[in-house]
Amino acid sequence: MSAGPAEIREWNALPDAELFALARETADRVHGRKVLLRGLVEVSSECAMNCLYCGIRRDNRAARRYRLSAGTLTATVRAGLRAGFRTFVLQGGEADYLRGEGLLRLVETARASAGEGPAITLSFGIRSRSEYTELRAAGADRYLMRFETADPDLHRRLRAGIPLKRRLRALEDIRAAGLQLGSGFMTGLPGEPSDALVRNVELAAKLDMDMGGAGPFIPHPDTPLGDHPGGRLETALRATALLRLALPRCHIPATTAAGSIHPEGREMMLRAGANVLMPNISPEAARQRYLLYPGKVCLSESGFAAPDGFSARMAGDGLEVSWERGDALAAREVV
Ligand code: 5AD
Ligand code: SF4
Repeated sequence: MSAGPAEIREWNALPDAELFALARETADRVHGRKVLLRGLVEVSSECAMNCLYCGIRRDNRAARRYRLSAGTLTATVRAGLRAGFRTFVLQGGEADYLRGEGLLRLVETARASAGEGPAITLSFGIRSRSEYTELRAAGADRYLMRFETADPDLHRRLRAGIPLKRRLRALEDIRAAGLQLGSGFMTGLPGEPSDALVRNVELAAKLDMDMGGAGPFIPHPDTPLGDHPGGRLETALRATALLRLALPRCHIPATTAAGSIHPEGREMMLRAGANVLMPNISPEAARQRYLLYPGKVCLSESGFAAPDGFSARMAGDGLEVSWERGDALAAREVV
């Protein structure tokens, strides 16, 4: 059973230090002192959608578009395997060429390159229920799609007309297709209501997501929200801690966005209850172009070097990286 609104509001009344400590204790109890690694591969910067916050939105003429070829995807996954990754997260915009067959071929390529053992997670936005089922059959294990904001009006405005309801139906379809479900939201979005944080955590708890997290909104200069202030790190840390308390068994990443607004943002998220890191193992040309927001920390950091860096930085906290596949925990596994 996930937490209800009253509990979430009670936790939210705690000051930062207490909240973060309680969340980290919960993470220790359920997940141990391990930080699961996922290799992130950014497949394409093409997108037919026009979300107001996003640097690769359709109307951003300045965005540089690319598609990873099947050969490059294979080489990237194989290099990831050699480095030790046992989960690959393939992410991309809602590109026309990836509708239907396109994405299926991509998953088949990734599965053939990875072999049977590793997990494959997809993140390619809203699809039909039958597409999710086909993706599962083609070898995908998990699917990530943030709901972005639990506020229906704000959601419709920022996602250029797409209703929150449509997103939530797709999340149901993902679950029904037998995929492990990931979701989450951004903190500090322009125009969000004052109780956005608890409402977002409430929705995450209601979805009972297996994985997912929160990152601060970062304004991209070539978008309609370019002049708005970004989200504060503290709010993103509080979101992480509240998610941990509301969903103890959830796999919660220390997000790249947190690392992009503060040099130790991801380490701080781990201390506030996160248990996953997603080093970006995309080829450098892709990393430079998949710019949802500016200042992405992985521009200067290859995902292949990241695990060693984290190990060194987290050793003092007694946290260690883990190369396990890290599947969703069933409710009964949590004591
Ligand atoms: N700032 C922070 N996060 C962003 N995302 C998209 N644009 C931005 C931005 N400007 C997030 C969304 C999306 C995920 C892949 O990246 O939450 O779901
Ligand atoms: Fe496309 Fe996703 Fe960016 Fe929206 S957030 S414009 S769906 S890549």
